[in-house]
Amino acid sequence: MQRSYTAEIAAPGRKVPVRACDFESSPVFLFPSVGEYPVYDEVAYEVMIKDERRMGAYAEAVRRYAPGRTVLDIGTGQDAVWALAAARAGARHVWAVEVIPKSARIARANIERAGFADRITVVEGLSTDIELPEPVEVCVSEIIGTLGGSEGAGSVLRDARKRLVKPDGVFIPHRSATTAVALDLDGASPGQPLGFPAIVFRYVEEVFAAVGRPFDLRVVLEGVQDNPKVRERSYLSSSVEVEPLEFNGDLDPEGVDGAELTFTGKGKFSGLALGVRLWVAEDDEPIDSLVQSSNWTPVYAPLSGEGLPVRPGDRFEFDFTATLSDDGVHPDYALTGELHRADGPAVPLSWSSTHHGDGFRTTPFYRSLFPGP
Ligand SMILES: C[S@@+](CC[C@H](N)C(=O)[O-])C[C@H]1O[C@@H](n2cnc3c(N)ncnc32)[C@H](O)[C@@H]1O
Repeated sequence: MQRSYTAEIAAPGRKVPVRACDFESSPVFLFPSVGEYPVYDEVAYEVMIKDERRMGAYAEAVRRYAPGRTVLDIGTGQDAVWALAAARAGARHVWAVEVIPKSARIARANIERAGFADRITVVEGLSTDIELPEPVEVCVSEIIGTLGGSEGAGSVLRDARKRLVKPDGVFIPHRSATTAVALDLDGASPGQPLGFPAIVFRYVEEVFAAVGRPFDLRVVLEGVQDNPKVRERSYLSSSVEVEPLEFNGDLDPEGVDGAELTFTGKGKFSGLALGVRLWVAEDDEPIDSLVQSSNWTPVYAPLSGEGLPVRPGDRFEFDFTATLSDDGVHPDYALTGELHRADGPAVPLSWSSTHHGDGFRTTPFYRSLFPGP
């Protein structure tokens, strides 16, 4: 039996009660969506390096496009994986940009140790702030979020296309989309409110510190995507795509996408699982975070505290909106829609999730996650 209990975590200027769960007995638990904040540590980089699906797709694309070309690696990280892969594949020169100073320092040391200091130049800073001596032929980056654009890929790569990459330059990855499926949260974690295991507290604290206050931060569901039995119990519909980002085409980080989900199962509709579908190269099979295990895990977008009873054939129609926040990079997301059931009137439902947070304990889900007065 999964056990949950109340603990305390640190937020700027105060302590905050939090719903915690026992890691050993909790096959499904929550984690904050961290990639959109500068809170990368060794563990986070290691999780990405161990994601074989991601690593395989990127390695193949880099081997295909880098030989003989100039390459820009945006967000090289401490391991400089794609900068090194490009140099090993025969890139003429690689510019490896990294905004986190410690990660840039470690990347530089790793590149020197690997003997590529003459072919890879590490630039510390934001890609949007740097200049290059000439536009490059290939841009590789992995700044794809738990929602496709949530780490800023749309605006960052649009800037790179304008200033840093040749007009016919190739972008790796090729395309991403955010995906949505209707979810029965109680099916994912029967009879127990979901919580954070204690090992996750420090990431919640770091996200609160990065934003400057506690807020209803985006959370992801661990233990759902790679467990067919849990998916069967909790996914109530097939999936749809929103927020398309065409990195080799017209790239617009902002937009409204209309979508419709038709329920295929009976259950209680509590919200959406939002994932990412990623085409690393144009002709690749996409990586699909709603149904495949990878370092990307589905975001939970709560819509109803109790869950609304639904049956096959019922529909949820919604608009999904991405608008750049005031940092010009990270999107704020909003969703408004209507649940149409065979019996009864349409039920309006909405969700919003801004990058720097605009409320704390604003919905029943977050009041359960952060219990308190
Ligand atoms: C998801 S990690 C990927 C690390 C590595 N490239 C990999 O694929 O394993 C994203 C990295 O990009 C960095 N980053 C994000 N946006 C950036 C930008 N606009 N300019 C430079 N670095 C950026 C982050 O600090 C982080 O280290």
